Order: sequence, then structure tokens, then C-alpha cells
Amino acid sequence: MKIRALTLFPKMFDCINESILGRAIKNGILDFDAVDIRSFSKDKHQKCDDTPYGGGAGMVMTAQPIYDCINAVDPNHEYLRIYMSPKGERLSDGLCRELAINQNILLLCGHYEGVDQRVLDLCIDREVSIGDYVLSGGELAAMVVIDGVSRFVEGVLGSAVSHEDESFSDGLLEYPQYTRPPEFMGLKVPEVLLNGNHKEIDKFRRQKSAELTAERRPDLIKPDGEPR
Ligand code: ADE
Repeated sequence: MKIRALTLFPKMFDCINESILGRAIKNGILDFDAVDIRSFSKDKHQKCDDTPYGGGAGMVMTAQPIYDCINAVDPNHEYLRIYMSPKGERLSDGLCRELAINQNILLLCGHYEGVDQRVLDLCIDREVSIGDYVLSGGELAAMVVIDGVSRFVEGVLGSAVSHEDESFSDGLLEYPQYTRPPEFMGLKVPEVLLNGNHKEIDKFRRQKSAELTAERRPDLIKPDGEPR
């Protein structure tokens, strides 16, 4: 999968080269680049923002550098072009899976009070929000999308890992996990996990999953007790 982040702060994306995503990049499963919007500005000082028409606080990112940057990175519109915005559709497990189907995604990161609406109207396919709060820029939100989506790209997590038991995969939160030692600071691993009876273990985990979801996320459960 090819991912391009368009940003005024490309260095913020250095952390993508760590851990699981870093390995996927090294192995050629992910092809990632952070593209500096500023280098496309035709302003003599490479300015990329201006005061909003109609007045108001803050600055708005100008259309020209973004328009030229998008068209340089994606001249034939082969990327799904996403603008990171608190006004967008909310990121979810379902949306991560859906976005992972695309061969190429481009993530436009805004800053200041936002981006000139015309460049969004001209170039952007979708707007995505990572939650109902406002970040100072779209970069951290774009990294959340990249991480959440990449995990569903074949080969990124390695063959031994499956999504089946994760939180949200069956509409519920994941059961608690334990590893060695069997006792830590006086707390014991639940006996059922040590006895090797997989039917019992599955039952225990399903029950823990249901309890945890009912306690923490009742909104995920229908009145009949089934996941939504
Ligand atoms: N940019 C600023 N806040 C954001 C949010 N909540 N989601 C996505 N992009 C953003």
C-alpha cells in the first residue's frame, strides 16, 4: 500500500519508521512518504497561510500550495484523498478495514484554523476525524489513521497474528490477557487459563469480553445483549 502524508511538518512523521510500521516499510509492504506542502508554495517567502476572509481569529492555509502538492503527488487521481478534520466522518474499526482495501491513500494535514474550502472541494474525496476534539494539526490524526489502517494490510502484522480476537473485531472489547509468571505481587492468573482446556478458555474469554463491554461500553451492546 502506498501512503502519502501532505504536511507542513514532515519530520513529525519520523516515528512511522519505528516498530511494526517501520518493519512493514523496510519489508516493502508499506510505501510511505511525508511530502512538504511548503516546497510547493509560489509565494516568495514560501508562505502557506493567510488571514480568513470575513474576519475571525487565526490563519487559513492557502489553496495554491496544497493544490499543486496534491497534483504533483497524485496527477492521475490514483490515491484516495483524505483530509484530516474534526468535521470528518469518525474513524472506527470498520472505517480502518474499509480504507485498507485501497491501494493508495493520501492524507492531507491541515493546520491553523483550517484549509481554504475551495481546495477541499476541488481535490478531496473524504474527510476523516479521529474524535470529537480539536488537535493543533492533522498530523497526529493522520498517524492514527496510518497505524489503524496498516494493521489490516496483509503482511503488516506478520502471519502469526490475527484480528479475530481484538477489541471491536466481534463488536465487543477484548478480554484481559496474562503472561508469565503465574503469580505477580500476590495476583494470580485465572486458573482456567492454565489448564489447557480450550473450550473452557473460550467460554471464560467470551464472558470476560461481555462483562467488560457492558461495564465500559454499554453503547456497543443492544438491549437483547447482542453486539450492535
Ligand atoms: N485535525 C484537528 N483535529 C482533528 C481531529 N479530531 N481529527 C482529525 N483531524 C484533526
